[in-house]
Amino acid sequence: SQPPNNDNQQEIEELISSLPKEKWWRGSGLTLYQNFWVPSDFIRGVITLRRHFIGRDSNILLASKPKTGTTWLKALAFSVLHRAQFRPSVANANHPLCSSNPHDLVPFLEIMLNGQPAGHVPDMSGFTDLQLFATHVPYHFLPESIHQSQSRANLEGGAGDWSMEEFFENFCKGLDFYGPFWDHLLSYWKASCERPERVLFLKYEDLKEDTARNLKRIAEFMGVPFSKEEELDGVVDQIVEMCSLSNLKELDVNKTGDIFGYENKTFFRKGEVGDWANYLSPSMVERLENIMKEKFSPFGLYF
Ligand code: A3P
Repeated sequence: SQPPNNDNQQEIEELISSLPKEKWWRGSGLTLYQNFWVPSDFIRGVITLRRHFIGRDSNILLASKPKTGTTWLKALAFSVLHRAQFRPSVANANHPLCSSNPHDLVPFLEIMLNGQPAGHVPDMSGFTDLQLFATHVPYHFLPESIHQSQSRANLEGGAGDWSMEEFFENFCKGLDFYGPFWDHLLSYWKASCERPERVLFLKYEDLKEDTARNLKRIAEFMGVPFSKEEELDGVVDQIVEMCSLSNLKELDVNKTGDIFGYENKTFFRKGEVGDWANYLSPSMVERLENIMKEKFSPFGLYF
């Protein structure tokens, strides 16, 4: 199919230069685009996604705020989708997860689109055939085509010279990659309430608590439910084990190398629910809890 007409390169550059910008601890800072702080390095890809990406019914989109469990969800979804081709097992040295970081197996849309010259709309007919994509953009950045098509969205979850206090202050103000955190999360929460058959909302906490049960929900949602035979054969448990933090963290491919300028190993840390509070002072914890209570309580998302 024909790609849409190219954008006017000058118009895009003028738009970008008119948007508010803030420093960030890495890269070339953050740019405020439609009320969200997008890493300036990826702003062109995000604008192209917003304007031109055409979803297909066969697309499955893993959408998450950075640091909410994206890497894990990518590993799980990839293993589920390709289980017929690649036998999921920690003993299967030929499984792609043994040789590739999950981010290499499930690409971010906005990063794929970012490498284009400004204003040039890429021919996306080739890669929209891929079934599984990821994105960090909030729900309403996804083009109308995604909202209306049958394609699906999921959510699951080095510090430069910034101090923790600076990070914290900025995070509370919403100044964070693809922040504000609460608005990002609520964009998908609301979409999942409006279109539960098309948007599955997953919490990292729930995935941790009962990975097998939630993996079955994911497979069903993706349209590839586990059969009774597969369950009896232990396929669900094997995927859970293969994608566990302890397994992925110890693979050479994840101990070395880097992706998007981050060392692979930084994506596999502790994975402990609530651990954030151990890095903040009691008054910071209280402040953040109050913000979350205010933002999430109206939606029954804060307990
Ligand atoms: P912590 O920093 O709390 O340890 P993202 O992938 O969106 O960047 O999220 C990173 C978080 O997910 C990190 O949390 C990381 O440890 C955790 N994580 C990565 N792989 C995981 C896995 N296989 N199982 C559970 N948690 C995982």
